[in-house]
Amino acid sequence: MEFKDKVAIVTGAARGIGAATAWAFARRGAISVIVDINGEGAKKVAADIQAAGLDAIAYTVDVSNKQAVDEMVKDVFEKYGHIDILVNNAYISGGYAIVTETSQETWDKVIAVNLTGYFNCAKAVAKKMIPQKSGKIVNISSGAGINGSLSSGVQYPASKAGIIGLTKGLAGDLAPFGINVNCITPGLIRTWAPEEMAKQATGWTLEKVARYIEVEVPLKRVGEPEDIAETVVFLSSEAASYIVGEVINVDGGGMLDSVAKRESLLGF
Ligand SMILES: NC(=O)c1ccc[n+]([C@@H]2O[C@H](COP(=O)([O-])OP(=O)(O)OC[C@H]3O[C@@H](n4cnc5c(N)ncnc54)[C@H](O)[C@@H]3O)[C@@H](O)[C@H]2O)c1
Repeated sequence: MEFKDKVAIVTGAARGIGAATAWAFARRGAISVIVDINGEGAKKVAADIQAAGLDAIAYTVDVSNKQAVDEMVKDVFEKYGHIDILVNNAYISGGYAIVTETSQETWDKVIAVNLTGYFNCAKAVAKKMIPQKSGKIVNISSGAGINGSLSSGVQYPASKAGIIGLTKGLAGDLAPFGINVNCITPGLIRTWAPEEMAKQATGWTLEKVARYIEVEVPLKRVGEPEDIAETVVFLSSEAASYIVGEVINVDGGGMLDSVAKRESLLGF
């Protein structure tokens, strides 16, 4: 049990990739700290983990609220005496609109949650990890932060690209204290049923989701939340102790050139 009694804070863990990550740590003996703005969802994930005889605790926190983040981190530290892992994962997309129709409010809110929220959590946790001279921070970005995204406007890719820069800055700052900071850029992950996935962006249908996966993902399957969770666990483990400031695509090869893409685009 490599993570026995390690304290792992996972934001946005009331569902999806965050919940899968909280489970992955708890199964390995960690205390999973489930942080989410959706308090009921967070409590349910924590209760399910506890019902399996594993360790978890839930906090209702809006990560864009610095004071709420600081209070959560203070409380966790007072309870357990150490904080070993932070997984910054909570996000909102803001939906799709062409830039000329994107409101200032949408832009501000998405940057506040997706980027400032990660900064708030990393800053509060770093204050505890630096004196410990150990810690792991994994930031969940997105392939959209590298390639943009036709289905989520300008605010989401901008926030996700910012997370890559934040990772590099944090990694350089914190490595001298024995703290590893890295980043994951997921591709398309099945965080909900394909029917709902089809609804998430304008113009998408079930058939288009299937076709997208066929053409865009060389592995020809949608990613599962566990694909991301297991990469987070690896980056948080001693096996990854010499990895610092890296950005790892977990996307089934989605950024590669491929025969399917050529056939679809060029007919050969
Ligand atoms: N699902 C994908 O295909 C995909 C692809 C690339 C990247 N990602 C990234 O993976 C991460 C998780 O995605 P997911 O699909 O599991 O998302 P999800 O929507 O299933 O879960 C996100 C969670 O974040 C919480 N949240 C939202 N605002 C919050 C706030 N202000 N404070 C605290 N919690 C808040 C939500 O309540 C929710 O529980 C995100 O960072 C996302 O950008 C996902």
